[in-house]
Amino acid sequence: KRMLKSDRQAFGWRVLPLLHLDDPVEFVTSLRKMDMRDDDVIIAAFPKSGTHWMWEVTKMLRKGIASYEDRSKETVMLEFSKRDVIEKEASPRTLNSHLPMCHLPQQVKEKKIKILHLVRNPKDVIVSYYYHLLQMGKFTMSELLELYLTNGMMMAHQFDFLRQMQQYQKDNPEVPVMTIYYEDMKENPVQIAQELAKFLGHDVTEKFCKEVVEACSFSKMKEADPQKKEPKHENTGWKGPPLKVYRKGQIGDWKNHLTVAQNEMIDDFIARESEGIEFQFKYI
Ligand code: A3P
Repeated sequence: KRMLKSDRQAFGWRVLPLLHLDDPVEFVTSLRKMDMRDDDVIIAAFPKSGTHWMWEVTKMLRKGIASYEDRSKETVMLEFSKRDVIEKEASPRTLNSHLPMCHLPQQVKEKKIKILHLVRNPKDVIVSYYYHLLQMGKFTMSELLELYLTNGMMMAHQFDFLRQMQQYQKDNPEVPVMTIYYEDMKENPVQIAQELAKFLGHDVTEKFCKEVVEACSFSKMKEADPQKKEPKHENTGWKGPPLKVYRKGQIGDWKNHLTVAQNEMIDDFIARESEGIEFQFKYI
C-alpha cells in the first residue's frame, strides 16, 4: 500500500494530466523492469538542479565533440519519454530522471550503471521550480512553498530524493555514483568537467573540457534551446505548453524572491529535514 502511495506521489499534481501516461502506477512498475545497457549513464537529479546543463556536458564528454545536439533531454527522460524512443536511442545512452532511486530500473544494480547525481541548494531550487510551474498555471510563491514544505511536490520531495540517494549508495556500493553540486559547476566548471570525464572513463584534455564548458554556457544553451523549435514533443507525448528552462542560471537568486519570513520558514524546514543527510548545500 505504501509503495502505491509513493508511486502515485512520484507523478501527480498539475503535471499528471499533461503526460502521456494513462496509469502512472503501472508505468513506474514497468520502469523498474526496463532493460539497461552496460554503457548507459543516468543523470539522476531532483528537478531544477541543472539536469539540462549536465546532460549536454555529459554527452559532449562522451562523444568527444564539443557541439550541441539539436534536441532536448526530455527525449531520453525515463519518466517522460515514450519507451520505444528510449529503446531506439543509439548507444551509448545518456538517460536522465527526476524520480527517486526506488523507481529506477532494477538492472541499474545488476549492470552497475553509472549514475550522475546532481544537487542544488533548496532555496534556488524553490525559486527555479516556481518559475517552471508558473508556465503551467497561475499561482503564488506562498502556494508553491506550501507544497514544498508539506511534501506535495511532484517527483517526491527533494529531501526524500536525497535520503534515498544516500541510502542507495550505502546499500549498493558497487553502483558508481558521482555527485555534482550545481554551485561547484558554476564556480569551477572546467575542473568539474575533468572530474566527470574521469568518472565516465574518458581521457580528455583540459583544452577539450574548456571547449565543452564554453559550448554549454548558459547563454549558448539558452540560444540553442531546442524546445523553441520542438514545441510538440513528438517523442514524449507531452500535452502541455513548451516549457522554458533557461531562466537565469545563477546562484542565490532566491535572495531576490523570498521574503524574510519565507526564508526563515525554509531554514527551519531545511534544518529539520537535513537530519542524517550528508549532502551539504552550497549557497555561495
Ligand atoms: P534557474 O531557473 O535558476 O535559472 P533543470 O535542467 O534540472 O530543470 O534545471 C534548470 C535550472 O538550471 C534553471 O535554473 C536553468 O536556468 C539552469 N541552467 C540550465 N542550463 C544552465 C547552464 N548552462 N548554466 C547554468 N545554469 C543552467
